[in-house]
Amino acid sequence: MMTPKINICCIGAGYVGGPTMAMIAAKCPDCRVEVVDLNERRIAAWNSDELPIYEPGLEDLVKAAKGRNLFFTTDVESAVRRADVVFVSVNTPTKTFGLGMDRAADLRFVEAVARTIARSADRPKIIVEKSTIPVRTAELIHTILAHSGNGMRHQVLSNPEFLAEGSAVADLENPDRILIGGESTPEGREAMQVLVDLYAQWVPRDRILTTNLWSSELSKLVANAFLAQRISSINSISALCEATEADVDEVALAIGADSRIGPKFLRASVGFGGSCFQKDVLNLVYLCEHFGLPEAAAYWEQVIQMNDWQKRRFTVRVIRALFNTVAGKAIAIWGFAFKKDTNDTRESPAISICRQLLQERAVLHIYDPKVKPEDIRSALGVGEGDPAVRVAEDALTTVNGAHALLVLTEWDEFRSVNPAQIFQQMMKPAWVFDGRNLLDHQALRTAGFRVEGIGRAPLPGA
Ligand code: UDX
Ligand code: ADP
Repeated sequence: MMTPKINICCIGAGYVGGPTMAMIAAKCPDCRVEVVDLNERRIAAWNSDELPIYEPGLEDLVKAAKGRNLFFTTDVESAVRRADVVFVSVNTPTKTFGLGMDRAADLRFVEAVARTIARSADRPKIIVEKSTIPVRTAELIHTILAHSGNGMRHQVLSNPEFLAEGSAVADLENPDRILIGGESTPEGREAMQVLVDLYAQWVPRDRILTTNLWSSELSKLVANAFLAQRISSINSISALCEATEADVDEVALAIGADSRIGPKFLRASVGFGGSCFQKDVLNLVYLCEHFGLPEAAAYWEQVIQMNDWQKRRFTVRVIRALFNTVAGKAIAIWGFAFKKDTNDTRESPAISICRQLLQERAVLHIYDPKVKPEDIRSALGVGEGDPAVRVAEDALTTVNGAHALLVLTEWDEFRSVNPAQIFQQMMKPAWVFDGRNLLDHQALRTAGFRVEGIGRAPLPGA
């Protein structure tokens, strides 16, 4: 069967838009995919050999399609005009001011995009929401298009992205499901079919779900809220384990063996980060409040409070152990990204932990394999010459003269470090606070360290 040629435009060349469009271009050679962004530096980076985001496998994917049927440009309006299908993949941060501050999503970028489409489109388009957005955003897009366009009736679909950073390429190639929401009118169904046929070029049909618009939008928030809730649940248990000498990883293994619970997403940690979880849960809280459901709102809000507490609790343990003061003490920080295999630091637990330690006047020696030094400094609000923060080129140099080593991201390379070698370079007594239970705690203890993991009783030095 010949696949019809489709012109695709994606507005927003970020962590979602870039990888998703690279996969569509790779899997659908008959489509022409243009990724557009207002950010010139970002587009220039996509067009260079050094991509603006790090994802395993992404470079090869982009290289193979770029210039063939995948293009990156800042010319938003022309790309929209050429497109049959316009994906909207712009950022939707939490509002930092005014009504709904700290809870509701800031939709100004979505609104701006809707206005751009209304201005540029000279024929009806299929507009696909990819950004994580609050329920009923499709309506907002629709209203703007209906009032500022030239009477054209565009179709708005919701097609939330479920990829996780660090495994984006694998998730896109082999998704658990593709969700497409649209209107149940003949035109709506026709538009959904276009998207179904696009994904069916590599995703088995039974994994492509179609729903109404609102179910699709809400499902994205709820999926992330359930995942975040699992982490907060196991993290709450980690506190209990530290108090009782149970081991949280053993508890997770034991409960995860129940097929109704399942083993995934039960890794106790220093707290969850990333651009989605906190934002989406807060969004859900806002929605519940908006619809007069304060009990449901309070229930979900607790997921965030537990996460904040987990990050604070970790820092307090460090300070307490170091004789109640870290002022002037060097502390090595391994990992700054919110998880391994990404250079993304949005909402990374490392940010709040480092900021709290800086308030206590600690001196931080930070290393992350993929986050750029300037991004670390800007996340912490410090300048290049600030003596309180030194960003190192490798893991080993951070520990020199440090009183404690904190593991905040679970990068694989940290596992291969020799405990005796780092112990020797550190002040004594030397501590490891393993916020990811990544390292071999017994081996560290044998080397002489005092070790504190998440959800385990502390190991005193040997
Ligand atoms: C998440 C969802 O998984 C994805 O489906 C959605 O599209 C976007 O949000 P992402 O934020 O990229 O993806 O990463 P994820 O793997 O979910 O991790 C989020 C945070 O939770 C990280 O900080 C991670 O370290 C933490 N985490 C995850 C835990 O602390 N324990 C776990 O068991 C799993
Ligand atoms: P995500 O993780 O959701 O992909 P990012 O912040 O990485 O979020 O990417 C969103 C991108 O959308 C940014 O590169 C931003 O410049 C771009 N963007 C925001 N508003 C517009 C707009 N009106 N037109 C084009 N691009 C936009």
